Amino acid sequence: MTDEAIVLNVVVLAAGMGKRMRSDLPKVMHPVAGRPMLAHVFDTARALGARLGRGEVNLVGVYGHGGRLVPDAFVAPDLQWVEQMPQRGTGHAVMQAAPRLLDHAPTLILYGDVPLIAVDTLERLVRSLLDAQRRFGLLTVELVDPTGYGRVVRDKAPGGSVQRIVEQRDASLAEQSIREVNTGVMVVPTPDLRRWLDALSDDNSQAEYYLTDIVGMAVAEGLEVVTVQPTHAWETLGVNSRGQLAELERVYQRGLADALMESGAHLLDPARIDVRGQLTVGRDVCIDVGCVFEGQVTLGDRVRIGPYCVLRDVVIRDGAEIAAYSHLEGASVGANARVGPYARLRPGAELGPRAHIGNFVEVKNSSFGADAKANHLAYVGDSTVGERVNIGAGTITCNYDGANKHRTVIEDDVFIGSNSELVAPVRVGRGATLGAGTTLTKDVPAGALVITRAQARTLSDWVRPAKNPKTPKA
Ligand code: UD1
Ligand code: CA
Repeated sequence: MTDEAIVLNVVVLAAGMGKRMRSDLPKVMHPVAGRPMLAHVFDTARALGARLGRGEVNLVGVYGHGGRLVPDAFVAPDLQWVEQMPQRGTGHAVMQAAPRLLDHAPTLILYGDVPLIAVDTLERLVRSLLDAQRRFGLLTVELVDPTGYGRVVRDKAPGGSVQRIVEQRDASLAEQSIREVNTGVMVVPTPDLRRWLDALSDDNSQAEYYLTDIVGMAVAEGLEVVTVQPTHAWETLGVNSRGQLAELERVYQRGLADALMESGAHLLDPARIDVRGQLTVGRDVCIDVGCVFEGQVTLGDRVRIGPYCVLRDVVIRDGAEIAAYSHLEGASVGANARVGPYARLRPGAELGPRAHIGNFVEVKNSSFGADAKANHLAYVGDSTVGERVNIGAGTITCNYDGANKHRTVIEDDVFIGSNSELVAPVRVGRGATLGAGTTLTKDVPAGALVITRAQARTLSDWVRPAKNPKTPKA
């Protein structure tokens, strides 16, 4: 990365301690949609770089509370970390980043605990500066309840220009009634930023260096502060508490649900779906309530997912159905196959077309050929199951001898009777049959029948023991 290729410096403030989370984890590490808040912010910053043209941003993260945990979690060639210790305000945080900023590119300030900020909004903000040759861009938003935020103080005239920002604690009663607030996000030319940072003082109610004071400085130099509003007000929601984190999660999930519906998926309730990763859907996919999708999940055309399923890193091909309460991880399901209810597919489970995996069946690192079935209560691990095989209820592949794992091979058209154990390594030849209750320890030739059943004895004059009469208490 050469310095000339950089279009933007992005400072991400993440040193704050997030006391109200009541957590050992630094606030910015708490997840939204399964990933740390901070990861969303870095993604957005990089996407912004790509939108602006040449695709390079100079990312500078400011860490403090939580020590190396935060920087160690995010290591990348385009990202530098600076420590802020102690934390003496947002202006002080940016001062720590200043030596890492490149003068020829403007600097955008983002917050690690404001993870939903959108690329569109930031692009409009940055372009307001670049395109119009202006020198101060500020993201503001009108709130019904502005409590706690810095207020944007404007000229008396209607539509008056921005004069300064005043923090809630330092605001007069009149200023507190202003509903336009500072989101904290701003973009400024870097040499100006350096000059303003040098002039900051901590002469305020919190004895902190407020970054927001640079607004008044810019105005004093005769600059116009351009304000831009976010496309959606929720983009600027910050996280200070567990309640706000949960709120943000719902906002984010609703956005993903809307996008899924726009791409043709039928969601029984868009408020009851959780996507923590990338979910790709074909046409006429139907997803019932309460499902969780993690990692990379691909659903083919007409796939139906029943209620309360968990799918992590799976591919489900056209027309397959996953019935209620099934748990699938690292698996692939063939076209028109049926899984569940209450099925578990573990990593390496690969089902062919029209295969059936029923209730309380666990499949791990095993392939099922086309039309193969295990409909009830079974464990199939480290196995190759052929086409049209039927695995009876209660069947277990004993793949583990206490030290090593071994494979079971079940060839096409085999019938495994209920409650059988296949002690691996073992192979059942094409078309063979295992009688119910077989404990198989040797290979079976094609077409043969194996029975390992103890002879049943019937004692017709058998009397069941009776309960002893109660002895009275002494
Ligand atoms: C700040 C703004 C306020 C704005 C609000 C928007 C200032 C002085 N005030 O207030 O105008 O309405 O954000 O949410 O900027 N941080 C550090 N180091 C520090 C202090 C903060 O890295 O020393 C980080 C925090 O981790 C957080 C962000 O900066 O990500 C904002 O800090 P916070 O204390 O929440 O600022 P507010 O008081 O909310
Ligand atoms: Ca805050």
